[in-house]
Amino acid sequence: MKFNVTLLVAAIVFAQLDAHSIHSEEPAMKPTWAIVIHGGAGSSPTQLGEESSQKRTAGLQHALQTGRDLLADGGTAMDTVEAVIRTLEDNPVFNAGRGSVLTNDGRVEMDASVMDGKTLGCGAVAGVTKTKNPISLARRVMTNTKHVLLVGPGADEFAETQQVPLVDPEYFLSQRHEDGAANIASANQEEDEPHFGTVGCVVLDSQGNLAAGTSTGGTAKKLPGRVGDSPIVGAGTYAANGLCAVSGTGVGEEYIRN
Ligand code: GLY
Repeated sequence: MKFNVTLLVAAIVFAQLDAHSIHSEEPAMKPTWAIVIHGGAGSSPTQLGEESSQKRTAGLQHALQTGRDLLADGGTAMDTVEAVIRTLEDNPVFNAGRGSVLTNDGRVEMDASVMDGKTLGCGAVAGVTKTKNPISLARRVMTNTKHVLLVGPGADEFAETQQVPLVDPEYFLSQRHEDGAANIASANQEEDEPHFGTVGCVVLDSQGNLAAGTSTGGTAKKLPGRVGDSPIVGAGTYAANGLCAVSGTGVGEEYIRN
């Protein structure tokens, strides 16, 4: 497999974790819990600038701490994945939820998916424009429908029936100039300009269950209607107990092709 683009995966591979314990002095013990997050294969810290980079690091630290607290308290892998990704979606320095990049006609269209490694249940949404936290909607698709993937207005309408909050599309645009997310706006002028990245989280909980989730605004200046790998289970997200949990970031077309 040969890529000429930046791709990154957050992964828990069970065979490797089994070989050593986490948060334990006992080398032969099974892991208690583990969490891996990513804030995207967007621009490098030098491209982003110091202030934006610091905000991104702080956002990742906050997300990770949210996950650690839940897992240390016996939280489930699926609850942790959702809670961690929600913090990243609410933070305008990531390309997901509030900080999503724009289409070539200046709108936000978001994609997200989750997978539960215990049941192999999965849920996803694509092209949502009003749902504040697409990751929560993806989880409702998994738990409350017989489907795997809902798209566009139908997905936003489903959010209404699930008490998943909808917001005015202005919400996704309002903070990007105030809060250092102006880089995202410039990313939409020129694809090679600095931009923030897709977010993802993979978790092994203390019960031995794996879960994975990914959320994104997609690629900057994408065609309206374009969908990448993030809501495609098996491309952007995958989890299966005893095997692995994976969340990808990078140019989604490459994940789908490969
Ligand atoms: N990996 C995110 C996307 O291509 O949409």
